[in-house]
Amino acid sequence: IRAHLTIDPHFTVGAINRRLFGSFVEHLGRCVYDGIYEPGHPSADEEGFRTDVIELVRELGVSAIRYPGGNFVSGYRWEDGVGPRADRPRRLDLAWHSTETNEIGLDEFASWTAKVDGELMYAVNLGTRGVLEALDVLEYANLRSGTRLSDQRVANGHPEPHDVRMWCLGNEMDGPWQLGYSTAENYAQLAATTARAMRQFDPDLELVVCGSSGAGMPTFGEWERIVLEQTYENVDYISCHAYYEPEGDDLASFLASGVDMDRFIEAVVATADHVKALKRSDKTIDISFDEWNVWYQSRYNDVDKITDVADWPVAPRLLEDRYSVLDAVVFGSLMISLLRHADRVTSASLAQLVNVIAPIMTEPGGPAWRQTTFYPFSLTAQLARGVALELKLDSPTHETAKFGAVPVVDAVATHDPDSDAITVFAVNRSLTDAVTLDIDAVALGRGISSARATSIFDEDIHAANTLEHPDRVTPKSNASVEVADGSISVTLPPCSWTVLTAE
Ligand code: AHR
Repeated sequence: IRAHLTIDPHFTVGAINRRLFGSFVEHLGRCVYDGIYEPGHPSADEEGFRTDVIELVRELGVSAIRYPGGNFVSGYRWEDGVGPRADRPRRLDLAWHSTETNEIGLDEFASWTAKVDGELMYAVNLGTRGVLEALDVLEYANLRSGTRLSDQRVANGHPEPHDVRMWCLGNEMDGPWQLGYSTAENYAQLAATTARAMRQFDPDLELVVCGSSGAGMPTFGEWERIVLEQTYENVDYISCHAYYEPEGDDLASFLASGVDMDRFIEAVVATADHVKALKRSDKTIDISFDEWNVWYQSRYNDVDKITDVADWPVAPRLLEDRYSVLDAVVFGSLMISLLRHADRVTSASLAQLVNVIAPIMTEPGGPAWRQTTFYPFSLTAQLARGVALELKLDSPTHETAKFGAVPVVDAVATHDPDSDAITVFAVNRSLTDAVTLDIDAVALGRGISSARATSIFDEDIHAANTLEHPDRVTPKSNASVEVADGSISVTLPPCSWTVLTAE
């Protein structure tokens, strides 16, 4: 089987914003406690952060990191997490049926973010709180000094403002599981008032308004329209969230999850541009795809969920999905979908970062290791430079139960104008057949001197990395690459993700 790709660096989709390679740290399960923070761990630094985790996060190459939730944020009082630790209250976290100790809060997280060379993206609570608390945390975080709140931060050991630029106006406010969830009209009103108030403090803040918590929500589309009609001139982004898991044994549809992500993005872009037209506005709203991943949500709902009214554990093992080769291939295809829309998806957050549906796992007192999904993320973050290109891709198709006929191969290419390197990210969705991908790069106007490819695949598509076998699955060099007269060919193994760089 063959597929054919034509690349022309003159046809660009848009510049790739580094914020596309963001992630997400929520106070949930063992993401913060026993994840990034474990003061008793042999690798812990003077602040109690695991340096082995810091190193892996840096290797992963994440940019902006969304914090502190997620569903958690809708019950959160930010001021519980600042000041002397001994004075910080323990509180119920209703979202995850846990106890929050508040040992880590905004100041500590800002410090950790700097250690991983990340940018802090902060979500305010618009579920059970409102404009005043959003203004308070903004003043605490971003004002240099001279008021009670900013001076408190200074007294708490942080003389420099955290200078948080990106703020999420609540989380998944359309979802009945969300504390304080709301109708589109009510949320739009609150988000608009909050956005206007925050901009009275700093007109240059970048604000993300909540879109739907999934394209399958009954209010999807209408929610975006109503919310944007109220907030258009005061926000910069609308959020998208999407999680994928196989249904039964329908792996073909699971492997085609990127089709769903493409449609989702294009529907939100259409809705945002519809509101733009209604408003006769010159401004364009971008997408912050601030939660995306493979998530075996049914496992959480059916097995792991804590409901006992007498049981409120600290940092329980929740959402600790173990990712397979198959999951990594789907995950890589979701990154292809994000890159293909680089003109409008200018921020994205892999949900999440450590232990909770995460590319990095840890054991208390023990090692940290990379899940299979670590690799497509780190390789894409490292190699997708410059601009995303428009492609001409001819691929055979195959049938899927959910999406009908889909191309067997999906791909995106990037061009780095500085080095003139072309990078192709491709996925082979066939479970049985290898596909040879012929890449025509004649339009580059120069010969290709070298090309190399790395693939993720395995005879056992369910193979995963574990505490006992942390390196069971790693990317493999793909020796099938051939270069001749401006054309390159590479063989994509069945159920595989590949990155190829040509110079
Ligand atoms: O990432 C896990 C959860 O998924 C988040 O808390 C919530 O926003 C979403 O439903």
